[in-house]
Order: sequence, then structure tokens, then C-alpha cells
Amino acid sequence: MLKLYVNPGNKKGHIRPELQGHFSEHLGRCIYEGLYVGENSDIPNENGMRKDVVNALKELKVPVLRWPGGCFADEYHWKDGIGPKETRKRMVNTHWGGVVEDNSFGTNEFMELCRQLGCKTYVNGNVGSGTVQEMSEWVEYMTFDGVSPMAELRKKNGAEKPWKVDYFGVGNENWGCGGNMLPEYYGHLYRRYQTYVRTYDWERPIAKICCGSNAADYEWEDTVLKTCFKGAEPQHGFMDGISLHYYTVPGPWECKGSALDFDEKRWYLTLKKTLFMEELVTKQIAILNRYDKDHKVGLVVDEWGTWYDVEKGTNPGFLYQQSTMRDALVAGINLNIFNKHCDRIIMANIAQMVNVLQAVILTDKEKMVKTPTYHVFKMYNVHQDADLIDSFIETEEVGLEKEYMVPCITESASVAKDGKINVTLTNLSIDKDYEIESIFTDTEVKSVEAEIVTGEIHDHNNFTDPERIVIRKFDGELKIVDGSKVKFTMPAASVMKLTLTV
Ligand code: AHR
Repeated sequence: MLKLYVNPGNKKGHIRPELQGHFSEHLGRCIYEGLYVGENSDIPNENGMRKDVVNALKELKVPVLRWPGGCFADEYHWKDGIGPKETRKRMVNTHWGGVVEDNSFGTNEFMELCRQLGCKTYVNGNVGSGTVQEMSEWVEYMTFDGVSPMAELRKKNGAEKPWKVDYFGVGNENWGCGGNMLPEYYGHLYRRYQTYVRTYDWERPIAKICCGSNAADYEWEDTVLKTCFKGAEPQHGFMDGISLHYYTVPGPWECKGSALDFDEKRWYLTLKKTLFMEELVTKQIAILNRYDKDHKVGLVVDEWGTWYDVEKGTNPGFLYQQSTMRDALVAGINLNIFNKHCDRIIMANIAQMVNVLQAVILTDKEKMVKTPTYHVFKMYNVHQDADLIDSFIETEEVGLEKEYMVPCITESASVAKDGKINVTLTNLSIDKDYEIESIFTDTEVKSVEAEIVTGEIHDHNNFTDPERIVIRKFDGELKIVDGSKVKFTMPAASVMKLTLTV
């Protein structure tokens, strides 16, 4: 029997809702078809946004949405995407499939989507191929409530009042698709560009996000921070957050593996590579701590998720893949890691929201399906705005040979505003159920209930079988022992949530 220790009296930090954020890029069928079909579509929509998808996303309580990229961001010129749709530029999406980008989804549409979702806005600016003026005018267009050329332009385009930009990214992956820069050079550009990302309304300041590392490129983060913090002590490097991108890629780039057809080795390898997120964020935070002694700057994991070979028969530039129980585990593991680092991680955004990589929703014309990853996000949304509490679980190693071994369980726990305690757990083992005794320090457990997402490891939802994997009520025994312990058996390959009334 494994022991899980939870100490509700020891609050470790606040879990910002943004830890369950999303990312949507002009890539494949994420924006077009997935989220936006246009006002004249036969697919039911509100101002062009698919009603089925928006309604499903609302159930997740999407806290924040990042847009327009990704690599697309550093080629995006926002003025191409405003004004009457008939006059918007038609152009090629060079990064993603070489398809026509008609710019019918632009700034006004993004703000409308976020309004419908009720979420915060995270706009990613163009450093790679854009000018300082262009970036500064975009911010003026979106947020200035006074007399100015850009505010007038916005009004002319039908938006009398400015919107709120909660987060603004100064470039994306500038070490790669965003300009192939060296860190010191980007650091200088960051200092310059961010100067003109003006906050016009100090009651609603814009949080500026600096481009951080690709996975374990610690040198990038270190050099960028060194450059930005130089002589700038009180301004905290001119930033509110620094990003980190890390994808779970279970194989070499040329052969990442299939999303649906994988063996036990790939299952464990995928989960092992996901667990690497723990080491990454720990080391990135350690570097950040050396510069940001006052803890004013947060880590922003604004791209994470699985990345497999594209589904056969689909455009290779569209990055369309299915999502199985394996992805449910990846989501649960990562969200637990983010919770545990909530003192320094201020946002995380799964890549991507619809039809791309580890999507929570897939669409096929008028049809829509919720992936297992969707259900894990839904299960975990009780952690949003809750306080992380101290927890620890004894584990054993499971897997195959050495390089395919992982700890059997991961967990995180929080106390919500209503006083309920939520513990989320992932069982990484393909075939082993675990009996768990959870011990809640100085707590009287009045009642407990549990939900589960589980299935055979390849199980997934598709358009003919959309509900193979859903959240189910846990029908195993949940035994309260001595008033402060809960015993239960967690099935193999599952993600679970315990909710306790205390
Ligand atoms: O999410 C797909 C791509 O992955 C993004 O455009 C880019 O930022 C990253 O390399």
C-alpha cells in the first residue's frame, strides 16, 4: 500500500487560474474551422465563433488564451487583420502548410472570442519581422481610450471602447522561428521593444512576457536575463514573465511516433519525457531566482503538450493528431507539476486548443469531439484560484527496462475557496492498480467523493465513438478510516480526483 500525505494546514502558494491556460495559433485548423467559421457559415456560430466549441470550452473555465502564435506571431502584421473583411490581405501562411491566410480572424475577432469565453487575453507581438512602431501601435489600437490615430482606427472598426490586454509577449521563440537570434541580441531587442508596449490604463497594466528558452537551453535564459536585468534592478528586467517551451516528443524528430499506434515502451517513454518538465522548471526557476531576487517575474510555460507524427493523410503542416489515454496522463502529470510550482509559475498554455497537437477539442466540419485531455482539464479546474497545500506520495518505479522506468503516481492537492480539498492523481502504470492510504494531517474528513478518467491505453474519442473516454464517477470503494484517512484503489492508467468535505 502506498501512503499519500496531505497537510491542509501548510499552504504553499496560490494556484492562478492561468496555470490551465490555452494557446491558439493560425496553424492548420485551429483558428479557422476549429474556433472560427465566419458569420455566414452553416455551422451555428455567434459572430463567427463556433457555438459548440465555445460552449465546450466554457465548461473548462478557460482562464487565458494566447494568440496569434507561435511561429506565426513573428510573421504577423496586425494591420492586415483589421477593417472590412473584403479588403483584408490574402497571403500565404509560410510556416504552416503554405495555405492562404485571408486574415478574416484578426484582433477584433480574437477579442470577441475571448469575450465569449470569458477569459483573459495574451497577445504575442512580432519582434522577428516587425518594427517597434508596429508593436507599439498595436498596443495603442487595443488598449488606448483617448484621442490618438490608433484609437480612432479601432473606433472606425466598430470597437468604441478599448479591450484589456492582460499579457503581451515580446516575440516568440526568437532563438528559432522568431528570428534565429542569439540570446544577448534578443535581450537588447527585448529591452527596446518592450519600452513601447505602453500601459495606458494603470488600473489594468499589461504584463510583459520575455521570450525564454527552448526546453533545457539554460544558457539562453541566463544570458537574456543578464542582459535585461543589467542596470535595471528596480524594473525587474523590464518584464513580468519569462517563457519556457517544452514539448513531449517521444522519439527523434523524424520519427516522433504515432498518436494512436504505440507500444508499452513508447507509453513509458512519453511519460518519462513529460516528467522531465519537473527538472526543467526547477532549473529555470533557479536561474530566474539569481536575477529576480524579489520574485516579481514569473515563469510562463506558454507552450507544452505532446507532439507526434501528424495523422496520416493530413497536411503535414497542420500538425493534426489524435489524443488517447496517454495524453490524458501527460496532461495530468504536467498540471500537477505546475501546481507544485505555483509560487513561481504564473501561467501555462497547452499547445494547442483545437485540432493542433495536444488539442482539447477536435472538429470535422460540423462535428466536434472532446479529447481525453479535455476531460483532464475539466477535472482539474477545481484547482483554479485555490491554495496549493503540502502533499507527498510514496512511489515505486514502474515501466520496462531502465530508460523506460517512471514513478508510479504523481499528485497535487489544493484547498478551494469553499474549503473543499481536491487531490488530483495520475497512475502511470499500464497494468498495476495501487492501493493508496491518504492521510490528512489534523483534518476531520466528513465525506469524500472521487472522479476518474481511465481506459485502455490506446482509448480515445473520435467522431463515431465520441464518449469512450469521459469523466466518470469513481465506483471503487472510498473508505474513511479513523476520521482523517481515506483508503482507495487507483486503477492502472488513470487520472483521478478526490474531493473531500472537511
Ligand atoms: O505549437 C507549434 C509551434 O511550436 C509553435 O508555432 C512554435 O512556437 C513552436 O515551435
